[in-house]
Amino acid sequence: MMKRSHNIALPLMLLAGSFFTASSYAADNTDSDVLARGKYIATASDCAACHTNKGSKDFAGGLKIISPVGTIIASNITPSKTAGIGDYTEQQFADAVRKGIRRDGANLYPAMPYTAYSVMTDEDIHALYEYFMHGVTPVDVKAPETALPFPMNIRMSMKAWNLLFLNNQPFTAEQSQSAEWNRGKYLVDGAAHCSTCHTPRGPLMEEEGSKALSGGLVGAWYAPNITSDAESGIGTWSKADLVQYLRSGNLPGKAQAAGSMGEAVEHSFQHLSDADLNAIATYIKTVPAVSTPENKGSRFNQGTPGTTLGKLRGLSQADITAKNLEGLGLFQGNCASCHEPLGEGSKDKYYPSLFNNSVTGAANSNNLIATILNGVNRTTKDGQVFMPGFGDHPNDINNLTNEQVAQLANYVITTYGKTAKPVTPEDVAIVRQGGPVSNLVTLARVGMGVGAAVVVIFLLWLFARRTKKPRA
Ligand code: HEC
Ligand code: HEC
Ligand code: HEC
Repeated sequence: MMKRSHNIALPLMLLAGSFFTASSYAADNTDSDVLARGKYIATASDCAACHTNKGSKDFAGGLKIISPVGTIIASNITPSKTAGIGDYTEQQFADAVRKGIRRDGANLYPAMPYTAYSVMTDEDIHALYEYFMHGVTPVDVKAPETALPFPMNIRMSMKAWNLLFLNNQPFTAEQSQSAEWNRGKYLVDGAAHCSTCHTPRGPLMEEEGSKALSGGLVGAWYAPNITSDAESGIGTWSKADLVQYLRSGNLPGKAQAAGSMGEAVEHSFQHLSDADLNAIATYIKTVPAVSTPENKGSRFNQGTPGTTLGKLRGLSQADITAKNLEGLGLFQGNCASCHEPLGEGSKDKYYPSLFNNSVTGAANSNNLIATILNGVNRTTKDGQVFMPGFGDHPNDINNLTNEQVAQLANYVITTYGKTAKPVTPEDVAIVRQGGPVSNLVTLARVGMGVGAAVVVIFLLWLFARRTKKPRA
């Protein structure tokens, strides 16, 4: 009886967040420290982003990660012995998280970001393991099996990909740098996995190390250059700016976090300690500058307040079409109520300014299109910020067509931002296909699925050549 209530009480206390109140269990005090630490690492690593499906129990899996090669389903990682990872030993758990090898020896697809987690220390893995075994409620419902079509269903092919691209080295501290810098690098490379979104990918969908953090596509969104370059990157941001952005998702007059970054801020970064956020900022400020030439001029100071509203006065819809003023009309009808006709946003900055905004000042218009289609919905300790999407409700009269979104985006960038390249309805169609916002966080790594396919095809080709040779 004693034991039973203990088993139930501990997870309950953890759920309530009261880690240090287990005074009646002297022996548990050290355990609770480890569990609290494990929970913190799980949050910093955003395990829930993929392993907790919308509306279902924590870490019960089932989230479908839609990839160009098929759907990869995140596993149930609760300690259930029948449906989850209850039978994993600590070594098997470490191998899954750091090497992408499942308990039965099969390779995981890199939709699970083990390439980043590979740098995690044994101590952190131990705490994570303790948390998942004793701090998470078991859920006895299996997640559906991933069934990729042939040849992507050959998990073995990932061995070849891993040989090429998995860094199997544990984190080694840089002696010439401070402890804070090293802590920052450890978090950025590992748990917080910034590079899985912000680093561009090569032909096999591997991260291009020489261009680390210089910008990458994440499904429909674009994770911009965050190197120390003053024009292309965030070299003009102070450490405090970056800490504020990671904690709240909003840096007035510069940038807001929507899409997968908004989710990462909400579920992970805002919960990090001040010390860890500062460590991340200290390290990020030293990431070698990578200049991306298409970004001439910083994206944070483009544009001025402006309107061509006067042009609309007295015109009929036919005149508006004839004069090519649809973008202006759409802006006044759909956006000006919050962002104001001059685009300056609200005084309290809740509705952001559209000039001096990284989304309208960027060379890449993906984030502007994605914001118009998907909106913004982010909850932090500062409260909720919400902008409705204008693309995702098929029966909603507010929905805009690809043509309209392109007209609107072009109006916004020419009036408030920088026109690098006009937006076409085809561009909008591609972003629209990028899938619902909730999946975007995961799409970052899904690109790697393509890599797997390429490797499989390459291996099959090698194999075919080999088996043909003796006959020739
Ligand atoms: C970006 C999405 C993503 C994140 C973040 C993520 N995982 Fe995963 N994980 C997956 C997917 C997808 C699979 C299944 C892959 C497959 O079937 O090949 C998986 C599989 C696993 C498995 C193997 C379970 C099994 O037996 O099938 C474990 C263990 C695991 N993850 C633990 C973790 C932990 C712990 C974290 C946080 C430190 C984490 N994952 C973060 C996507 C993710
Ligand atoms: C899951 C993908 C993902 C991860 C992980 C991620 N980011 Fe981002 N990040 C994005 C996207 C997408 C944007 C663009 C968001 C927008 O404009 O609304 C972004 C925007 C940013 C910006 C603002 C840049 C600008 O020009 O507006 C900064 C700074 C940033 N991220 C830093 C980081 C750091 C530091 C980490 C790791 C601690 C990180 N990000 C992890 C996807 C990600
Ligand atoms: C109901 C009010 C509302 C309307 C209508 C609205 N917005 Fe927004 N918009 C917001 C809020 C709130 C944010 C998020 C602020 C934040 O992230 O802190 C936002 C953010 C943005 C951003 C920055 C997104 C990012 O990722 O950095 C852009 C660009 C934008 N809106 C453009 C538009 C356009 C174009 C329209 C018209 C189609 C529009 N908005 C309509 C409230 C609104």
